[in-house]
Amino acid sequence: MPRDPRFDILFEPVSIGPVMAPNRFYQVPHCTGMGYRRPQSLAALRGVKAEGGWGTVCTEYCSIHPSSDDEPFPSASLWDDHDVSALAMTVDRVHEHGALAGVELWHGGAGSKNFYSREAPLGPSSIPAGVRDPVQTKAMDKRDIRNLKQWHLEAAIRAEQAGFDIIYVYAAHWYLILQFLLPSNQRTDEYGGSVENRARLLKELIIETKEAVGDTCAVAVRFSASIGGPDHDQDTAEPREMIELLGELPDLWDITVRDYTYEMGSSRFVPEAALEETMSWVKSVTTKPVVSFGRFTSPDTMLRLVRQGVIDLVGSARPSIADPFIPQKIDEGREDEIRECIGCNICYTGDQTGTPIRCTQNPTMGEEWRKGWHPEHIPTKGSDSSVLIVGGGPSGLEAAVALGKRGYAVTLAEARRELGGRVTLESELPGLRQWERVRDWRLNQISKLSNVEYYLESVVDREQILEFAAVRVVVATGARWRRDGTGRWHDQEIPGWQTPSVMTPDDVLGGVVPDGPVVIYDDDHYYIGGVIAEKLRGDGLEVTLVTPANEVSTWTTHTEEQHRIQERILNLGIHLKTGTSLSEIQSGGVIAECIYTGRTEELPASTVVLVTSRVPQDDLYSSLRDEIDIERIGDCLAPGTIATAVYSGHKYAREMDAVVPVGVPFLRER
Ligand SMILES: Cc1cc2nc3c(=O)[nH]c(=O)nc-3n(C[C@H](O)[C@H](O)[C@H](O)COP(=O)(O)O)c2cc1C
Ligand code: SF4
Repeated sequence: MPRDPRFDILFEPVSIGPVMAPNRFYQVPHCTGMGYRRPQSLAALRGVKAEGGWGTVCTEYCSIHPSSDDEPFPSASLWDDHDVSALAMTVDRVHEHGALAGVELWHGGAGSKNFYSREAPLGPSSIPAGVRDPVQTKAMDKRDIRNLKQWHLEAAIRAEQAGFDIIYVYAAHWYLILQFLLPSNQRTDEYGGSVENRARLLKELIIETKEAVGDTCAVAVRFSASIGGPDHDQDTAEPREMIELLGELPDLWDITVRDYTYEMGSSRFVPEAALEETMSWVKSVTTKPVVSFGRFTSPDTMLRLVRQGVIDLVGSARPSIADPFIPQKIDEGREDEIRECIGCNICYTGDQTGTPIRCTQNPTMGEEWRKGWHPEHIPTKGSDSSVLIVGGGPSGLEAAVALGKRGYAVTLAEARRELGGRVTLESELPGLRQWERVRDWRLNQISKLSNVEYYLESVVDREQILEFAAVRVVVATGARWRRDGTGRWHDQEIPGWQTPSVMTPDDVLGGVVPDGPVVIYDDDHYYIGGVIAEKLRGDGLEVTLVTPANEVSTWTTHTEEQHRIQERILNLGIHLKTGTSLSEIQSGGVIAECIYTGRTEELPASTVVLVTSRVPQDDLYSSLRDEIDIERIGDCLAPGTIATAVYSGHKYAREMDAVVPVGVPFLRER
């Protein structure tokens, strides 16, 4: 289909200093967990973005010098010529598709603790470095500032040698240049005090970078339009003064906000285009192009913001991860095929754990080089086998789509009245509505595949499967929450678990209405305990959340949600007992036990919801595994995140009749 002419404006070229972006689609810097350690993986990933139509594709943060290392998190680096050739691979892959390549030069200052290089971290003054690490920065003297500028300059020249078109001066987030810009800068020389003084380092870096590479490369500045902490993003006075001061110096302003849980907010807390209000003033104080973002998955939102003059370039990190082909799909009038980001922030957990990027919606993300997976292309079938999939949750649906695209005849049987499995159920919980996009994108794909059929309310048993006689059978029947409390803290059942007041998340998701007061025991530590507490409190019940961890939903620190979840739990009046386990469940209450002192207390409870661990529903598989060609996928194989379920379904489909390497199942970089 031709492009809807309404969207023509998104495909206009935009000049950025000496270079020209071929369109307005701009992949802002985002990490991949690959960085300097996995340059080929990185190049392939960025190349796919460019292939998908992003007119500009940037790297992740790229260290300019060993005094800024983020181990164990692998940033990109431009420390020496070896790094030049490694990053040139990324540039080449991006250029192959006519896109511009941008690099985000980075010095972490107090944001990097240098556990790898063992150099003293640097800061405007001596302040705590890292995140609760027992390290402080060395207060930078004038020589350190001169050195920093020299390193930045040398890195910019290396970036130019690698072929980059856009070179960033990175003045946002919690890194060195921002540490100079903020009012917390305690310097008493010309780099501290007044707004002009605090902005001096940034100004000098922009000018010197332009002088060094400005003939061939554009110089972009990543900058916060607000300086407030959480939920104080309206505090824009000083950033405004600074842009008024520096507005015409760079070739591009890449605008963020100070609160990262807002900038990169999950859909549970932050809607699409949330930054609009905070940064809409920027274009009124500079004539230079402005890029900003806001988990844009709707082409109409992109269009509106460009038309209204809020942004010139449509910035994107997560939407471009979930669907690297958004621009091409808009260009071809296939907007309905956009695989929309669900805002779960699983992609960020790679960044937070120092591991390669993963995406819930896009199982090929991070697998471009090491497995040769492409988000839009999949090899055609290797046989005429028919496939029966039992279970239409995220894993079964993904397998159906991928197998269907390969050309296999697929039949999917789902026991419930609707497809989607846990995604359908969990998206009813507060704030998780957008998660149903996992189901909806796949249903839309299935509707276009004549070789995939599905049957609802179809509980299939062993005999029916044998009778159906599909060549291949795959069981995707999910997992159920344990009722006996076995989990991480309790490696055996919790005494009293048979008490009738005990429920599991499956009961809540299935619509059982508990009596209050409710005790929720969360030994799972991801989102489900916290979100069920929020739901039941919203239903008007008295709720106490008990967890052996020291904070609510502790794993969500990796998805940048923990702070907001705990804030919400406390504001809703949910009682919180951290560092506490359940030693016994009784009729009418529980015995809670401090995990440090062993001291116990009784908590009243008409209902106890145990959120501990899950049991794969693999009976069907076990009953047939010795008789037919049958496999398990998703939570039925190993309970995990929705991302692992989708990946598992995709992997199954990719590997059918394919030659899978023996031993290590993917390429490794050495
Ligand atoms: C996985 C991931 C890694 C990120 N890494 C960086 C980074 O290295 N440097 C940076 O300036 N911003 C980084 N960001 C923030 C993004 O550039 C962007 O500001 C944010 O994700 C909001 O844009 P979006 O709504 O389009 O995702 C990262 C975001 C994600 C999702
Ligand atoms: S992991 Fe989640 S938030 Fe990240 S890009 Fe994928 S769908 Fe979006």
